[in-house]
Amino acid sequence: MRIGIAGKGGTGKTTLCALLSWNLKDLGKQVLAVDADPDTNLASILGFPEPEKIVPIVRMKELISERMEVRGGFFKLNPQISDIPEKFMQEYRGIKLIVMGTVESGGSGCVCPESTFLKRLLREIILRKDEFILVDFEAGVEHLGRGIAREFDFLLIVVEPSQLSLESFKRISPLAEQLGVKRIFAVANKLKDGRERDFLLRNLGKEKIFGFLSYSQVFSQVNTSGNYEILREDKLYKEVKELAEKLLSD
Ligand SMILES: Nc1ncnc2c1ncn2[C@@H]1O[C@H](COP(=O)(O)OP(=O)(O)O)[C@@H](O)[C@H]1O
Ligand SMILES: [Mg+2]
Repeated sequence: MRIGIAGKGGTGKTTLCALLSWNLKDLGKQVLAVDADPDTNLASILGFPEPEKIVPIVRMKELISERMEVRGGFFKLNPQISDIPEKFMQEYRGIKLIVMGTVESGGSGCVCPESTFLKRLLREIILRKDEFILVDFEAGVEHLGRGIAREFDFLLIVVEPSQLSLESFKRISPLAEQLGVKRIFAVANKLKDGRERDFLLRNLGKEKIFGFLSYSQVFSQVNTSGNYEILREDKLYKEVKELAEKLLSD
């Protein structure tokens, strides 16, 4: 299953991506997490040692274009996650990670190798039943225009209880639909009370919300210590587990 995570900046995309990765892994699944946000921080949250030393795909330009040009291509025929050259990937505690880095915008029709890489990765990798690719996107909608969106089985748009976040949802959602993303849902995050939950229910409709995640006090500790492992003990982890199980039952 290929899952994209989008939404307004700061709503909790990277947090959701990391918590979903951990949960799916704990449920016995293979996870490849892809950091497609130029402001990369997924590696840190996933606890990768020395995240600053990870070379993003964007800096492997030559390697990528060289591989893409070779006939027979970059991946083997019917490639699986395990066929992705290790050069492109990091692994920590059973979770594989690819960091895309900053994709230079070439306007519409951008054919930059990084974009092509991601597209092929999503399109060509044959996922077994127990394999997941999770892509943590940048805020905004630009990434949807690169022809990447249609490769997703799911697009989860993280929303918090605010008008601005709803506006982002309403921009992203129809665009993704036009591009052919099969299933598009909101994940309601940072909910403090029933009033905020009702606000999102009223504005989005029950059928559009994939799940609800509550506001967690643990972030004041997590953010200042940089120890994201604490999240594993938090109620948020269990709430995301329910989302992971829902994805599995789909
Ligand atoms: N459920 C939550 N409860 C409280 N704070 C949260 C929650 N989810 C995210 N946050 C806060 O929002 C910040 C931004 O989250 P992040 O996942 O980095 O957002 P994004 O990737 O969308 O920019 C986190 O550092 C954390 O402080
Ligand atoms: Mg982020």
